[in-house]
Amino acid sequence: MSEPLELAVVIPTFNERANVPLLVAKLEQALRGTRWEAIFVDDDSPDGTADAAREIARADSRVRVIQRIGRRGLGTACIEGMCATAAPVVAVIDGDLQHDETILPQMLAALHGDDALDIVIGSRFVAGGGTGEWDRDRVAKSAFATRLSQRVLNVGLTDPMSGFFAIRTDVVRTIAPHLSGIGFKILLDIMTASARPLQCLELPYVFRCREQGESKLDHVVALEYLIALYDRKFGKVVPVRFAMFSCIGVIGVLIHMGVLMLLHLGLGSGFLGAQIVGTAAAMTFNFFLNNALTYRDRRLRGWRQLLDGWVSFSLVCSVGAVANVGVAAFLYDFRYGAWAGSALAGVLVGAVWNYALSSRFTWG
Ligand code: GDD
Ligand code: MN
Repeated sequence: MSEPLELAVVIPTFNERANVPLLVAKLEQALRGTRWEAIFVDDDSPDGTADAAREIARADSRVRVIQRIGRRGLGTACIEGMCATAAPVVAVIDGDLQHDETILPQMLAALHGDDALDIVIGSRFVAGGGTGEWDRDRVAKSAFATRLSQRVLNVGLTDPMSGFFAIRTDVVRTIAPHLSGIGFKILLDIMTASARPLQCLELPYVFRCREQGESKLDHVVALEYLIALYDRKFGKVVPVRFAMFSCIGVIGVLIHMGVLMLLHLGLGSGFLGAQIVGTAAAMTFNFFLNNALTYRDRRLRGWRQLLDGWVSFSLVCSVGAVANVGVAAFLYDFRYGAWAGSALAGVLVGAVWNYALSSRFTWG
């Protein structure tokens, strides 16, 4: 019988083929004398990252691979990796060599040395740490995101944006049902999901430059960060999807009015025609924006899916509009003159209808 595992290292990857062998070699170096396993969680990268990891795994049984099909997301990849080990401690580290794996033994030793400690976090902002060769723009954006999280969620960490940490596996399993998994910020998710405050320690490290491959941090990831903050703060009151759907609905109304004014006032076309075109424009706009943002995880792709989706969305919204007008008219008759309240109630009923049915039939 072999000795029990001490540490699992979870490595979320997307298009990191060239980095895989380099990282395994660095882990091997850094973790001499520790019984460890590495778990790559790859979202079916087109560059064959999972194959590269399996190639190594064939010769080295400490390396494992989880290949997810049809899924994307750094946060959920980390969660699934952390729940897939029998080791008592699990670390998460980026697959692009930007995190400093040489502090993993210190992280493990800290957890071994103090039973009260839940999590050890690699920080760029405690003495001895650093952001390396980041340009001013990235430093400013990161500082803004950090301040925002401290304002909104009040986590007392110097580097809540870090994606490099080691945590007790039983703690992860306890809080896993409460993790949102939205976006990139898995540490923030963990820190705010726990019912009791987690005992943490921050250890310094210097963020390295990426040599191979490219960053996946883009505008959608930035938006997902805001969505994740909203979800933690208000998600229990108004679910994040419904909030996004409603915001997009409001923009749709503005588009409707814009088209109507352009055609009716600007070009002199008849009201009815302009109203129909305005409605169609708003519905089409709403469909594509909801597809790209609200339902980005179930996104419809290809002209066939998009056409079917657009038709079903338009049908749902048409019925929603009838419900909206019906409810508003009923309330208006009932409490004569309460036009604003009646209209708002109609809008609310229409929005809930559209949301409930399109989530079932268009993106179900
Ligand atoms: N499985 C999976 N799925 N992995 C992903 C995905 C995804 O959708 N998107 C990114 N990754 C992997 C990358 O392959 C890489 O190993 C790691 O997650 C980090 O992604 P990068 O694209 O390199 O992001 P970054 O360098 O901008 O951000 C990282 O550094 C931050 C520090 O500011 C992330 O680790 C953040 O969590 C970290 O806080
Ligand atoms: Mn990176």
